[in-house]
Amino acid sequence: RLFSLLAVLTVFLSACTGEDYISTLKPAGEVGEDQYDLLIFSISIMTLVVVVVSFLYLYAFTKFRRSKLGDKHIPKQVEGSHTLEVIWAVIPIILLLILAVPTILSTYKFADVKAMDEVDEEGNKTALTVNVTAKLYWWEFEYPEQGIVTAQELVVPTNEKVYFNLKAADVKHSFWIPAVGGKMDNNVENVNKFWLEFGKESEGLKDGVFYGKCAELCGPSHALMDFKVKTVDRAAFDQWVAAMQATEGQTASVDSTDLGEATFAQSCLGCHAVSGVGTTGAMGPNLTTFGDRNRVAGVLEHSKESLENWISDPEAIKPGNLMTGKYSELSPEEISAVADYIMSLSVEK
Ligand code: CUA
Repeated sequence: RLFSLLAVLTVFLSACTGEDYISTLKPAGEVGEDQYDLLIFSISIMTLVVVVVSFLYLYAFTKFRRSKLGDKHIPKQVEGSHTLEVIWAVIPIILLLILAVPTILSTYKFADVKAMDEVDEEGNKTALTVNVTAKLYWWEFEYPEQGIVTAQELVVPTNEKVYFNLKAADVKHSFWIPAVGGKMDNNVENVNKFWLEFGKESEGLKDGVFYGKCAELCGPSHALMDFKVKTVDRAAFDQWVAAMQATEGQTASVDSTDLGEATFAQSCLGCHAVSGVGTTGAMGPNLTTFGDRNRVAGVLEHSKESLENWISDPEAIKPGNLMTGKYSELSPEEISAVADYIMSLSVEK
């Protein structure tokens, strides 16, 4: 029976590792690998404790049981043992110390962000820094040195340290990319800093896309507060930055004969900025790269149909989000046209 139980457990556990979505067990990059090693190390110590304690329990259980039926003899009564008490206090202390040393060392290593302030001869910051602002229920990514802002999809160069300033706009959230590292809290009242390195895409991760999650219960759509990370080589990253910068500062006039564009300007631009279309709407996610993304609203398949569903009834998809209920007055033609327009927004095409 024990064997079949173990078999079932194995199936469950292997199902966990087979899912790319939460892939802490397939780390990519220095932080993720360190966290994985710590995980294995602490599980090894725990396993050792379980084995030793189980053995002692079984030993006492069999050795000291009543020898035969009807035996009324009272065994020797033991009232405490200083030696034993010292042993079972000291061994856990030693084990906890062994566990604490690598944990503290790696925590300090990832919180070491001195490089964020380093500048080259021209006074430009040398480290790549991203300001992450968590909002109900989406993520804003600002590259302060490059002067660009995007949302829901972080773009980073592979195998380089990326420094993060984490904050929240409303309630507490937590920034977590299971395969790469984290989690660290996004708070309203302070900025948390750490760095991550996005390693070569690990097996099972497709097209260098990592999955990120909010890891702090923040409201009804907490579980849907996902984001993606696109990792590209340095040249492609520089190209992306240049394409993003090229859209900044331009103010295209809205083509009011185009139903999608006109509807967007009237109903969406107030909250959603699109670089190059000239707006400062910052209530909702910046949509400049919408057509390049992997998901709609972080959780739906990237298609026009998903986008139409989202615009028609955002509350049904992410309960409690701030876009709720404001677009129901749009006609199906307007929704279709505006979805076409938003899907066409791209810096890669
Ligand atoms: Cu944001 Cu959970």
